[in-house]
Amino acid sequence: MISKYAYGDPFHTEAAAEEMEVREGMPEFGEMEIKEGFTFSYRMAAEDIVYGLGEANRGLNKRNYCYISNCTDEPNHTEEKRSLYAAHNFIIISGRENFGLFFDYPSKLVFDIGYSEEELLKVSGDYADLYLYVITGENAYDIVRQFRKMIGRSYIPPKFAFGFGQSRWGYKTKEDYRSVAKGYRKNHIPMDMIYMDIDYMQDFKDFTLHEENLKDFPEFVREMKEQGIRLIPIIDAGVKVEQGYSVYDEGVENGYFCKREDGSDFIAAVWPGDTHFPDVLNAEARKWFGDHYRILIDQGIEGFWNDMNEPAIFYSREGMEELKAMIRKLAEEDPDTLPIGELQRQVLEIANHPEDYRRFYHNIDGKMVRHDRVHNLYGYNMTRAAAEAFTRIDPDKRFLMFSRSSYIGMHRYGGIWTGDNKSWWSHILLNLKMMPSLNMCGFLYTGADLGGFGDDATRDLVLRWMALGVFTPLMRNHSAEGTRRQEAYQFGDTEDFRGIVETRYRLLPYLYSEYMKAALNDDMYFRPLSFVYPDDTFARGVEDQMMVGDEIMIAPVYTQNAKGRYVYLPEEMLFVKFRKDGEYSEEYLPKGHHYVEIAIDEVPLFIRKGRCIPLVKAAQCMEELDTEHMEIIGFENARYTLYEDDGIHKDYDDPANYRVLIWE
Ligand code: GLC
Repeated sequence: MISKYAYGDPFHTEAAAEEMEVREGMPEFGEMEIKEGFTFSYRMAAEDIVYGLGEANRGLNKRNYCYISNCTDEPNHTEEKRSLYAAHNFIIISGRENFGLFFDYPSKLVFDIGYSEEELLKVSGDYADLYLYVITGENAYDIVRQFRKMIGRSYIPPKFAFGFGQSRWGYKTKEDYRSVAKGYRKNHIPMDMIYMDIDYMQDFKDFTLHEENLKDFPEFVREMKEQGIRLIPIIDAGVKVEQGYSVYDEGVENGYFCKREDGSDFIAAVWPGDTHFPDVLNAEARKWFGDHYRILIDQGIEGFWNDMNEPAIFYSREGMEELKAMIRKLAEEDPDTLPIGELQRQVLEIANHPEDYRRFYHNIDGKMVRHDRVHNLYGYNMTRAAAEAFTRIDPDKRFLMFSRSSYIGMHRYGGIWTGDNKSWWSHILLNLKMMPSLNMCGFLYTGADLGGFGDDATRDLVLRWMALGVFTPLMRNHSAEGTRRQEAYQFGDTEDFRGIVETRYRLLPYLYSEYMKAALNDDMYFRPLSFVYPDDTFARGVEDQMMVGDEIMIAPVYTQNAKGRYVYLPEEMLFVKFRKDGEYSEEYLPKGHHYVEIAIDEVPLFIRKGRCIPLVKAAQCMEELDTEHMEIIGFENARYTLYEDDGIHKDYDDPANYRVLIWE
């Protein structure tokens, strides 16, 4: 059951897919205190687990830390960080009592989950305007499913988006892209997409192409497509300030950019230098911005990634003036020494400064709304702008779209990637733990930068991380300019990489089918063990193994130099290891604890008792995958319901898309 409460004058975020009746009074659990702001508090029992928060730091169980929903361009995902790029304000308390809470509140929100006081859950915001949804159910999984139904069907990408993609910040010329294509095709490592980072644009201007490097772009798109490769360009939130650039000129003329209090267009420096932010919270401006994606679609592009849409601000004009004034003052006060520590702090803090988010406004239905009041909705609405345009451009076609920043509600319009991680072993584990939390909040098409974005990757790290990436719907290797190259062909012998990516393609019919079933039934693709085995007390505490779809469990290796790992089986399972020679080994393991050996070039998975999964032969790209000839592995006499469609159009609900496979 779901109850919706309203306090003050809440903003309509459109996070929920349908309107529902609003109840008066206080929620049935905890206490709500309304003053200038609000504080919700609840005393947790010792055994309670708190799930949720989607893209957030640390573990699956969110207890004993404090998280802040405040979409932030945070390139250092270190343990002490409280905010990342998203605001997914849904939590589930599971134990003595079972209930879920969704705080539909678009400004900064603090989740103190037993941090200040061990047993106290305290959620607080500075303003007392919000909708609070309280969801009761049998257990955490049941609550998630009710919530997911309420917020509406998750985004469904085209099938090619389940292929493997290569990305790197720094590809500039056609030759750069061609050499990536060649690196993969020559070594027979499957690949479906090459991502285009900011250098494809002319001076980092959205919806332009580099005039020298990417002449005759439609022809180049075709050349790549002939090799089974799609190009996926990035779109940034900030529009470069430059007279004569049509996006800038039109935006200024029509008042489509976010404004300062005095009505002038707000200026934030990002990659292109000075930029304006399109007012994507304004319906007319959103439509205008979205329609620009057509410029690239008309040249053959079928997918995009939206970036810097927290929105990220390197500095504002105002912030820069304040910083300069401060440095001048310090120099005048004591001309002989400068307080270096203080200076460093001030310089670093100029980026994404809270004060800057109070310096600009949105025009929402004729009302000027200060940005910080609706901050967490920006990335959501930028992505919505694109998705709504796709529907206008080609209503029956699926486009690939994922975003860096997000809020619940955006899950209907696109997926997300988890931003600028690092080539660290701990970030493989962070990636794994985040996936089910994201699914709880509606985000199914997700993945991390495999191999790590920042810092130098090592061969073993990329291999182990890609072996996890085999199971994430978005499987993309991406890295930052200046770091060691980490494409699958950069580490000498490519056989190990080929084996891992081929395993992805061998499993694709299963992975796609499970994704589609999860999306169509408002269900999860990644589930914690505790959701599937609620009565197993040991399974309740497992955070480094996950269920993928209904039939399998994964237990990736995330420690350097490990030859294998410990794994807990809540029931008998078939342990399968895929090898690079295309063969696989099988071993039945009883319920309980095991140490399993997993070599650097193997992809392990566990098939649940009484279940089976389909396998196909690997191919160089999705279009070449032969799904007519399937092999089935698993337990004898098991059945599997396979979902299959053309992966291009939107006729998802056709019963002909399902067929039953039987292992005999
Ligand atoms: C941001 C993105 C990253 C991208 C870079 C350059 O840091 O998160 O993925 O490579 O900008 O566009």
